Amino acid sequence: MSALLEIRQLVTAYGKIEALKGVTLDVEQGSITCLLGPNGAGKTTLMMTVAGILRPKSGSIRLAGEEITGRPPHAIVAGGIALVPENRLVFPNMSVLENLQAGAYQRRDREIEADIGKLFERFPRLKERSGQNAGTLSGGEQQMLAVARALMSRPKLLLMDEPSLGLAPLVVEEIFRIIVQLHQDGVSIFLVEQNAHMALKVAQHFYLMEQGKVTFSGTPGALAEDEVIRRAYLGSAKA
Ligand SMILES: Nc1ncnc2c1ncn2[C@@H]1O[C@H](COP(=O)(O)OP(=O)(O)OP(=O)(O)O)[C@@H](O)[C@H]1O
Ligand SMILES: [Mg+2]
Repeated sequence: MSALLEIRQLVTAYGKIEALKGVTLDVEQGSITCLLGPNGAGKTTLMMTVAGILRPKSGSIRLAGEEITGRPPHAIVAGGIALVPENRLVFPNMSVLENLQAGAYQRRDREIEADIGKLFERFPRLKERSGQNAGTLSGGEQQMLAVARALMSRPKLLLMDEPSLGLAPLVVEEIFRIIVQLHQDGVSIFLVEQNAHMALKVAQHFYLMEQGKVTFSGTPGALAEDEVIRRAYLGSAKA
């Protein structure tokens, strides 16, 4: 059986500088797979490349066995991948409801309203604020909106780039509860996190990335947590 997402020898460059230097990894169907690594390791670059926002120089990305490398973002979304971007980029001058509708922009079915209703049940805080401009939501509420908007495309695979960044501990716990719930509902999740402790609690598999390369792959517990955390923040170079 092959993985839901298969990334092989992926190279993505900004001009002459290669931020991804041949990344190979898998996200298994039905898993929470976590990607850890220090600042500048290339985690966001990888997410943006999978989402079709950046074009790789070489290598391949397959979703459920199908080659999707180089497809434009709307085709990637239509294929079943949604990105919750770093810094929760909601549309600040649009209401909560309009943000959710925007998340369904490529859908033509009749269940969009029903899906919004379900998301409002899952995120009652968003329902209370459905008419409010997204830019005036708190950080935690914006993160929930960014997740809810991504879910409006009915993804098979959700890419989440540092969803807990800058949030208070209680809000981080809430975000992780949502991640676990989504996983139980059958969404596969590829999660970039700086909160290695929380990530290792929910993930079935994790990768460590340093300087554009995967340097470790294993199940939580395969490496002592303090070693993972040290390498996730500092890289393997001795301080
Ligand atoms: N638009 C860009 N133009 C040029 N270089 C870039 C650009 N975006 C990122 N880089 C560089 O690519 C490398 C990887 O950056 P990336 O944002 O993918 O790292 P990251 O692992 O997500 O880091 P962080 O944990 O800080 O979010 C860095 O050296 C960064 O400076
Ligand atoms: Mg990043």
